[in-house]
Amino acid sequence: MHFAVLIFASVATMTTFALDNGLMRTPPMGWLAWERFRCDIDCTNDPKNCISENLFIDMADRLYEDGWKELGYVYVNIDDCWASMDRDKDGRLQADPNRFPGGINKLARYMHDRGLKLGIYGDMGTHTCGGYPGTTVDKIDIDAQTFADWEVDMFKFDGCYSNAVEQELGYPLMSKALNATGRPIGYSCSWPAYQGGLPPKVNYTQLGQICNLWRNYGDIQDSWSSVLSIADWFFENQDVLAPAAGPGRWNDPDMLVIGDFGLSMEQSRSQMALWAIMAAPLFMSNDLRTISSGARSILQNKMIISINQDPLGIQGRRILKEKSGIEVFWRPLSNNASALVFFSRRNDMPYRYQTSLSKLNYTTGSYKVTDVYTDQTDVLKDSTEFVVSVNPTGVVMWYVSAPGKLQYHPFIRGNKLHRQTYDTKQNNFL
Ligand code: GLA
Repeated sequence: MHFAVLIFASVATMTTFALDNGLMRTPPMGWLAWERFRCDIDCTNDPKNCISENLFIDMADRLYEDGWKELGYVYVNIDDCWASMDRDKDGRLQADPNRFPGGINKLARYMHDRGLKLGIYGDMGTHTCGGYPGTTVDKIDIDAQTFADWEVDMFKFDGCYSNAVEQELGYPLMSKALNATGRPIGYSCSWPAYQGGLPPKVNYTQLGQICNLWRNYGDIQDSWSSVLSIADWFFENQDVLAPAAGPGRWNDPDMLVIGDFGLSMEQSRSQMALWAIMAAPLFMSNDLRTISSGARSILQNKMIISINQDPLGIQGRRILKEKSGIEVFWRPLSNNASALVFFSRRNDMPYRYQTSLSKLNYTTGSYKVTDVYTDQTDVLKDSTEFVVSVNPTGVVMWYVSAPGKLQYHPFIRGNKLHRQTYDTKQNNFL
């Protein structure tokens, strides 16, 4: 083959078959403005909460100083309503000069100086959902280049004010345009949410090739009914959605609203647990300046974060829906470990759910289980019947270690019966 043809062929293969940016091998984590701060542009009367560079600087300071960054929460993402209503004389998007006097590049530098990353928002269409300038197909290249010039690290591409044909053209083109800038920019696509989230309209194989994450479903709100309806939709459609996820490509059930006003502590623990099972991106949308210590400790729970961030990147599933209103969720993790969530849809009182690991499809063996919220540990044989007490709208969540082999005569030593002891290193009874 002629050399030039060879190069052309391999470039074509690369751009057609893979989003080759190497980013987001585990679900991205950070903070995103939308759910909590919406389109508040009233900096005169509401200077603390309006969409302005100060808000993003405040959140960056909190991530940096309050222990969030070390846990992986590194993205600070601007959502809608950041732009000026007009493009500049060269046709480029520009930030509202009153609210972002330093421009977006200054914010990006601020993040980078602290080991954080900056995300920004745009819309495939004539306008953003909030009515700001959109990115029509002819503007894709210039907008991608503008974000790269500003040193932005992530881009959410919404889909208001465009039709299915434009979206089919625009989302892949933006992926190519971002890659062509040479700057690694994580790409979040809202495309499937505008197509009903399911095949045949949505092609999850293609999405995995062009986007790092994608919104499949409607917007989250600050209420338990919203969180529950989103979780229900994702688990009802898990056979389609779970195979679509993996390192570099994630389903996005939308932001964490833990720390806001709508969820109780139980419900906050449930959102965190279910989002971890789903291998969901963890973007908090709350006010980190005033967050309660209870909400903070849920969001900063190291064991849940490590479950969410498991390097295998396998999205977990609901494995049982009991008549009692208890549901059981399971996610396989690296090192032969797994996570279990027992969730209660009940509204009356804590429910004592009895089961065993073998009833939950675990193979023969002994397992060390750790309650991720209480840190209590236990050792269970697959056949051991146990009871978990699950509070209304709450969860019990376990990290389950790899099975140790069952030894069949562990109790008899020197012809005497001994108490069982468990060796955590060996993960087995001695
Ligand atoms: C859509 C998106 C939201 C948010 C708003 C902004 O509704 O789904 O996440 O970005 O637009 O206007």
